[in-house]
Amino acid sequence: MSVALVTGGGGGIGRAIALRLAAGGADVAVVDLDGDRGAQTARLVEAMGRRALFLKADVSRSAEVEGFVAATEERLGAIDAFANNAGVEGVVAPIFDYPDEVFDQLMAVNARGVFLGLKHVLGRMRRRGTGAVVNTASSSAVRGRPGLAGYVATKHAVLGLTRVAALDVAGTAIRVNAVLTGPIETRMIRALDAQARKDGGIRRAAMSAAYGRPEDVAGVVAFLLSAEAAHVNGAAWAVDAGATVA
Ligand SMILES: NC(=O)c1ccc[n+]([C@@H]2O[C@H](COP(=O)([O-])OP(=O)(O)OC[C@H]3O[C@@H](n4cnc5c(N)ncnc54)[C@H](O)[C@@H]3O)[C@@H](O)[C@H]2O)c1
Repeated sequence: MSVALVTGGGGGIGRAIALRLAAGGADVAVVDLDGDRGAQTARLVEAMGRRALFLKADVSRSAEVEGFVAATEERLGAIDAFANNAGVEGVVAPIFDYPDEVFDQLMAVNARGVFLGLKHVLGRMRRRGTGAVVNTASSSAVRGRPGLAGYVATKHAVLGLTRVAALDVAGTAIRVNAVLTGPIETRMIRALDAQARKDGGIRRAAMSAAYGRPEDVAGVVAFLLSAEAAHVNGAAWAVDAGATVA
């Protein structure tokens, strides 16, 4: 049996990843700041007959990340698969009006949080020489979007961290990849849409006509975390119905 760790596991995409990995036979540790939604995901995993653990933590705090990684290994076993997924969207505002404190919060959660997850999980995986990580980036990792300075900057950072981490483990059986997710029907995209609508001057960049489902991302993440993807390392895998190549 394998052991998976999913951050942001109370959210739309994180929950779908947790359930998809559980369906594939994994025991799952769920990390989230939202105690209710995180615990609910853990209960859903248990209802599928797998072991689950909910750990309430903030991915931007090094000691907390170190703590939930250690707790997962103590209570479920060595981490085979890590979905480094927690993220926040911030506000929609042109860069000349973008609040400093929102930019700092996004750097803390989306960039530092992903860095800390990689640091602490890969630190353990490298002792065994195996494991797989998928970072949830975004199509905003490879293109600009008006009004989203913090989000776009931090998702570019996630892609950069993915590439560095993939090279830092190259030559081992550990792999680190990213999904470049287009708009997916979750709380986050609804919040961004509501803000973008309020500001008539801000348009979203060209996107696929229909939003994807969290399960569309989860299936690709599960593949990249599986042995089927043994030769995939450092990849930026688009899950956006073609929006970034349009
Ligand atoms: N929904 C989309 O359209 C979309 C598109 C591209 C990328 N993404 C990315 O997918 C990931 C998941 O987003 P989602 O759409 O499921 O949104 P969501 O808001 O439903 O889920 C995000 C989860 O992360 C948790 N979280 C936030 N800050 C945290 C912190 N500091 N520590 C621990 N947990 C924290 C939240 O409580 C929430 O449960 C994010 O990284 C997001 O940027 C989403």
